[in-house]
Amino acid sequence: MTRTVTLIPGDGIGPEVSQATVDIINASGADIEWEVLEAGINAIPQYGDPLPETVVESLRRNKVGLKGPITTPVGKGFRSVNVGLRNALGLYANVRPIKNFKNIDSRYTGIDMVVIRENTEDLYAGIEHMVGKDAAESIKIITREASERICRYAFELARKQGRKKVTAGHKANIMKLSDGLFLECARKVALEYPDIQFEDRIVDALCMNLVQFPEKFDVLVLPNLYGDILSDLCAGLVGGLGVAPGANIGEEGALFEAIHGSAPDIAGQNVANPLAMTLSGVEMLKYLGFDKEAERVMKGIDEVLGQKEKLTRDLGGNAGTKEMAKAIIQAMG
Ligand code: NAI
Repeated sequence: MTRTVTLIPGDGIGPEVSQATVDIINASGADIEWEVLEAGINAIPQYGDPLPETVVESLRRNKVGLKGPITTPVGKGFRSVNVGLRNALGLYANVRPIKNFKNIDSRYTGIDMVVIRENTEDLYAGIEHMVGKDAAESIKIITREASERICRYAFELARKQGRKKVTAGHKANIMKLSDGLFLECARKVALEYPDIQFEDRIVDALCMNLVQFPEKFDVLVLPNLYGDILSDLCAGLVGGLGVAPGANIGEEGALFEAIHGSAPDIAGQNVANPLAMTLSGVEMLKYLGFDKEAERVMKGIDEVLGQKEKLTRDLGGNAGTKEMAKAIIQAMG
């Protein structure tokens, strides 16, 4: 059955890595029709809005989207399109698989974990204001509903994937009410899953433990801000942003995207590594039930990762984005 997927190419390196990914996915044989829509700065000339309603409507209709990175101007201009999309579609779980690749060097081996970040509240609720001229206040929102929902998602994922342990990160020793509530919810939900081990760690100590012995972690569940920071840290454990996929999952749909941003420093040069976006595409294929096609893409990726000359420069090679995508397609057989 043909599945229609909303494709948001994004800006910066987004269009380059999106095209590479679409070519690879099409070559996998997955029966996907792409509905291409612009968001971010590229949407402003036509719609006067970085997040046009047509994008949200398309995602609501198709229920699955693949998205390139979108630039968020710092300190001024529009509110983050990424945050807007997550809120509009109720994509409450940000899911980032972190695993060593056979042919990518990293400081660590034996890492296989999933970082689950709450996506809708915390300091990212975007509620802030000036207090007079010389002070600013940002409001951190943590609710029982969102905390229980994300913790339940983490335990369900652990069970589904045959994982053994869930670790909740927090700073409840200092933020006794907000992080205290998150921890209380995590402990309560953990009782519903006696088959899965549960532990909690203060987030600063958790950072230290992650760089000391990352192989001891299995599923991490965190409020939005800590989740954002730790998922990049964890990407660094297995080879960096160039190889880190992500998904935003909600009750009614899912939006897949790489962890990295729009990389304006290398945009338009055909040097961006398409892998993180392609791996996000692989997660999407699995979500849609295209398991064989996902395996085919992974076979191509694994083979190409063993040939340095076919990789982009951030992976130690000298191939361009397009050339690396072509090599993956050839290796898929
Ligand atoms: P970034 O991830 O765009 O870049 C950080 C560094 O990594 C740069 O040196 C860049 O060249 C390199 N890099 C990133 N992706 C790469 C790839 N695929 N291949 C090779 N090198 C790569 O982070 P930065 O500079 O902090 O953010 C740039 C813009 O992207 C900002 O406006 C930010 O708000 C936005 N952003 C968007 C995201 C999204 O749409 N999901 C996520 C993160 C940032």
